[in-house]
Formats: sequence, C-alpha cells, structure tokens
Amino acid sequence: MSRFAYVNGRYVEHREASVHIEDRGYQLADGVYEVVGIRDGKLIDEDLHLDRLGRSLKELRIEWPVARGTLSFIIRELMRRNRLRDGLVYMQVTRGVARRDHAFPTRPVKPALVLTTKYMKRTDIDPGAGVGVKSQPDIRWGRCDIKTVGLLPNVLAKQAARESGAYEAWLVDGEGNVTEGASTNAWIVTADGELVTRKTDNHILAGITRHTLKSLADKLQLKLVERPFSLAEAKKAKEAFITSATSFVTPVVRIDGEAVADGKVGPTAKRLREEYIRFAEAGEPVT
Ligand code: PDD
Repeated sequence: MSRFAYVNGRYVEHREASVHIEDRGYQLADGVYEVVGIRDGKLIDEDLHLDRLGRSLKELRIEWPVARGTLSFIIRELMRRNRLRDGLVYMQVTRGVARRDHAFPTRPVKPALVLTTKYMKRTDIDPGAGVGVKSQPDIRWGRCDIKTVGLLPNVLAKQAARESGAYEAWLVDGEGNVTEGASTNAWIVTADGELVTRKTDNHILAGITRHTLKSLADKLQLKLVERPFSLAEAKKAKEAFITSATSFVTPVVRIDGEAVADGKVGPTAKRLREEYIRFAEAGEPVT
C-alpha cells in the first residue's frame, strides 16, 4: 500500500489526500502528467520523463510548480516514505485553482502538483505469456504528443478492450493505420524481421520506453523502420508488442481475437523485454 501522497508542498496520508474542487485539472483536464517506472528501487529514465514533462508544460504555458531538482527530490522522498521498490511514480501538474472559466486565469495562479506511487508486483508488469489487444477508432484530438490528463477517449478505448477480454486497445486512424495503444506505443515485427513503429508526431505520444527501446534494438543490430502500419498488416505480422513505463515491453499475441503468427510470444519481443529489464535494473541511461 502507498501510504503517502504529495500534494502541493505536503506529504499527506494517501487516503486523506485531496485537491480543491476548482482545480482546473479536475474541471477542465487542464493539466499534464508523467508516469515513471521503478524497478529494484531505481527510477527508469527519470531524466527523459522530466524532459517530457517540461515540454508538455511549455506547450500548455504552465510553469514548473517547483524547480526540476526539487521535483526529483520529492519523487525520491515519496518512494522512501512508501518503501517503494517496484511500481511507478505518478506526477501531475495542473494550471491550478481558479473560478471556472475556459480561458486561462487572468490573475496569476500557482500550478498544482500531486504525486502518488503505486506498487506493482513484477508479474503485473511481466506478463510472459503475452496479451491480447482490441482495435478501436482513434477519436482523440490533434495534440496527442502532449501528455495531458484529458484521457477520456483512451479510457473508453481501454474499457472496450477489457470488456472484450483484451488487455490493451490499439487505436486506429482514418486511414486504417494503428497510431498507438490507449496507454502504450505499438510495434510489430515483419516477416523480414524488421521492427516497425509509427514515427513520433502530433498523433502519438513520444514514449520514453519507445525511445530507449530504439537504442536497445540498435545495440542488438535489429533493423528499425519508423513508419505507419495498418491493422491488417499487424494481423499478419510475425510478432507484435507494446511498450510503456508500466508494461515495459509486453508481447501481443492476439489482435481482435486472432492469433498473431502462432499465437505464442516471439523471440524478438522476448529478447527486447529481457534487454529492457536488464537496462531498467542497471539504472543507467542508454547512450
Ligand atoms: N502511458 N502512448 C500513450 C497514449 C501513453 O499514455 C503512454 C504512457 C505511452 C508510452 O509512453 P512511455 O513509454 O513514456 O510510458 C504511449 C502511461 C504509462 C500512463 O498513462 O499510465
């Protein structure tokens, strides 16, 4: 159990932690967040996550709620208080508290900062047998590169997937191409053994796990192509997998109920997962 949360300058009992009813994150989804994975007591790619947080804040013209170094300290202090060794830290920054109005507050308000941690059993993040995904139309907005708390389309897609017995939803754009998962990036391995994942632009989140995996794939001398792939191509692929701070590299063995190849975890996804976990446990950035 995570006993403590951090809310606007204070470490508070998790069950008593609360925010103001006029927090713009609560009313308008006017805020951003980050999720950093923790393995063996080590933060995975903390720097890259804080870089992305800075970018999201800048895009929405929200100030850093505390200095970046202070945020790093708060993360560690919360991990220490919650004795967290495996799981994740969640941090959220909203524009702050103001009387409801769509436009930004005219008087300066302090951005609101909340951090929580979540313990995750290793089996939760390493489903060695692979998972199923379900396709869903991508009905999100034009700035999916910003990690905002406005996640309703993702929530609905994930829920549809879960109700069909799948673990994740794969979002499909108007051209029939897979953009990404509801909370993961999407990859396939072609018959020629090429790794394929969509290039980063406004239509997907530039995943930190995706970024690190590119370096790991390079180290393993795997060929990577950043291009769109269709749902039909994915269904015929040799392998498929998803990446995120919480699922690491998770093999996908079923798409819309159809087996990917023989329906078993393939060697590339397995190898990349092992390599990623080794990297996470080493606690060092890949160069
Ligand atoms: N989700 N795409 C989307 C839409 C995401 O929400 C996420 C992360 C990713 C993967 O990004 P990263 O590798 O940096 O975790 C891709 C987090 C884990 C979440 O919302 O819980």
